Amino acid sequence: MYLAVDTAVFQKSAEIHKFLMFKNKQCLVVSMRVIYPPEDFVKKANVRDPAIYSRTAEDWKGFWEDFARELHWYEPWDVFLDESKAPYYRFFVNGKINVAYNCIDRHLEGKRTKAAVIWEGEDGAQRVLTYQDLYREVCRLSNALKELGVEKGDRVAIFMPNVPETIIAMLACARIGAVHVVVFEGFSARALAFRLKDSHANFIITCDGYYRRGEIHRLKDKVDEALKGYQGVKRVIVVKRLGIEISMLPDRDFWWDNVVKGQKARCEPEIMDANDPLFIMYTSGAIAEPKGVVHSTGGFLVHVYATTKMVLDLKDNDVFWCTAEPGWITGHSYVVYGPLSNGGTVLIYEGAPDYPHPCRVYEIIEKYGVSVFYTVPTLIRMLSACKDEEIEKYDLSSLRLLGSVGEPIEPDTWLWFYRKVGKERCPIVDTWWQTETGGHVISPLPALTPMKPGSVTKPLPGFLVDIVDDGGKPTKPFQIGNLVIKRPFPGIFLNLHADPRHYVKLYWSRYGKKVYYTGDAAYRDDDGYIWVIGRVDDVLNISGHRVSTVEVEHVIMELDEVKECAVIGIPDRVRGFAIGVFAIIRGENYEEVAKTIQEKVKESIGSFAKPSLIVFTPDLPRTEGRKVVKRALSEFMNGRDVEISTLTNPEILRKIKETIKRDSRGVYVVK
Ligand code: WTA
Repeated sequence: MYLAVDTAVFQKSAEIHKFLMFKNKQCLVVSMRVIYPPEDFVKKANVRDPAIYSRTAEDWKGFWEDFARELHWYEPWDVFLDESKAPYYRFFVNGKINVAYNCIDRHLEGKRTKAAVIWEGEDGAQRVLTYQDLYREVCRLSNALKELGVEKGDRVAIFMPNVPETIIAMLACARIGAVHVVVFEGFSARALAFRLKDSHANFIITCDGYYRRGEIHRLKDKVDEALKGYQGVKRVIVVKRLGIEISMLPDRDFWWDNVVKGQKARCEPEIMDANDPLFIMYTSGAIAEPKGVVHSTGGFLVHVYATTKMVLDLKDNDVFWCTAEPGWITGHSYVVYGPLSNGGTVLIYEGAPDYPHPCRVYEIIEKYGVSVFYTVPTLIRMLSACKDEEIEKYDLSSLRLLGSVGEPIEPDTWLWFYRKVGKERCPIVDTWWQTETGGHVISPLPALTPMKPGSVTKPLPGFLVDIVDDGGKPTKPFQIGNLVIKRPFPGIFLNLHADPRHYVKLYWSRYGKKVYYTGDAAYRDDDGYIWVIGRVDDVLNISGHRVSTVEVEHVIMELDEVKECAVIGIPDRVRGFAIGVFAIIRGENYEEVAKTIQEKVKESIGSFAKPSLIVFTPDLPRTEGRKVVKRALSEFMNGRDVEISTLTNPEILRKIKETIKRDSRGVYVVK
């Protein structure tokens, strides 16, 4: 495999490094130089002293406690970390805190008139909320929620697009001690219903609809559909975003404007224990059903507060744009809680990044003077659809730091981002973390860590990360192994909602209850730089969104026409992965069943998970014991050599190979 490396960007660099590309199990060694953080950036960075690594190694507890002390606590913690009930680690034991107070009230004295949230609608509409505005709106909604019967500990689902009300709703829940469950607006009614039922949500905050690619999406209709099967929701609060005609059930559905009208603009924050849950975030795992990841109040806040400051280098006059939707963990940690606890200004954008033209993102950066831009590789790949000469027309000089998250970024995409968007002035922080970790774990510190395009570099200060083989032994340089975290950290999740069995089994069993198993494969190079390969379990990253192949299989298996199926990830140039389905069906109605499968996945999960490739086949590759070997299919689709010695029916793989090419899309029938 040839790697395009443009040497022009390395002019200021000194050292030459090696790294490996894995293709057909052969290793290709490519010479590569590191890129040092640009000097102008270094001079002003929040963290400039390299001793942070050695100091933290000596006193990692003190490192976190120093950050924690910068926040407001009603009562300080007695014990920093209680490990007695491992793997249930509890940080800041008996500390009392309120997250909304730390994200709003704490800043009112000095930043009352500062923009907290800037919103751009897809249609070009614009709204700005100062910290004072945010305070007032959050307090009014908090009072309204209480009046509607929301109590401390109740679960409130938030099913909303990227509008300021989503942030207000999250903070209002945090203020009164309710646990929010934000559900990505792209999920189907059925996926929403599952999350409502599983979390026992009694309340939903939603909106009538929103724009996506110029089209109206009727969100409230999905809520109505979801509530047909789940009677637990007592109240639905509806934001009027579009003013479209929707059905409102008397005594259940209330317009947001009506419930906040007349409410006092003051609401005392609830004093919360550091280990009370702040929110539940559903995510896909290696099992069929989504898991509710429960995060804490104190530890989570300390983690995202500290990393926003250290890694995203957030400062007072920044305009920080993290493109994540609120319904994903990145939207929680680095749109809302991290930046606002730092008193920052966040920009949110409602629509599609390439609508109505492929340069929309640059237009927004110029319009608002965005200085820190944090996004996913999928979006970076999409950004190149705006031609170079078009990019040049936009003033991107406000940018000073770029970030990436959610999936591995290929070196050439990294370099393109560095040169064309950052103009070689902006470091890139490639941040590795997960829903479960709450915040960053592995990432460069932007002023201190020399970067290697494609590598997430090194663990942040305070983290003990390792790569180990199946027996738990640390791997040698360039040897692929399992990425693990060997010491708890404040943002680590508390539990899986109502499912402690899977909490222990999926994360804390493989190497014992002191080692957190991430589910990712990675290797180190000979400088100790970490290169993440991807998931080793049945989880896919599609446009930075986690999808479980087992979940998709279960959904497809609900169709009578389908006898058996295997779902795998197929490489996708823009989205990282797309979904490929290999199915054995009853009858020969291929075109129709393909359509039914598409519809079924869309209805049950959401359109983002719709299969790109559907292959009807008389059989699937199997072991002696008739077990389907999905790995054989995915290795073929990923262009790797397939190990056929374990298969009892290798001929089926030959037939599949004759019918489809590696980069096939569409519907195929293997005879
Ligand atoms: C992947 C998103 C490579 C990884 C914050 C992880 C990454 C999963 C990176 C978690 C990165 C995240 N480089 N891979 N910088 N960041 N991942 O829970 O496979 O949606 O396990 O959290 O995304 O996805 P999640």
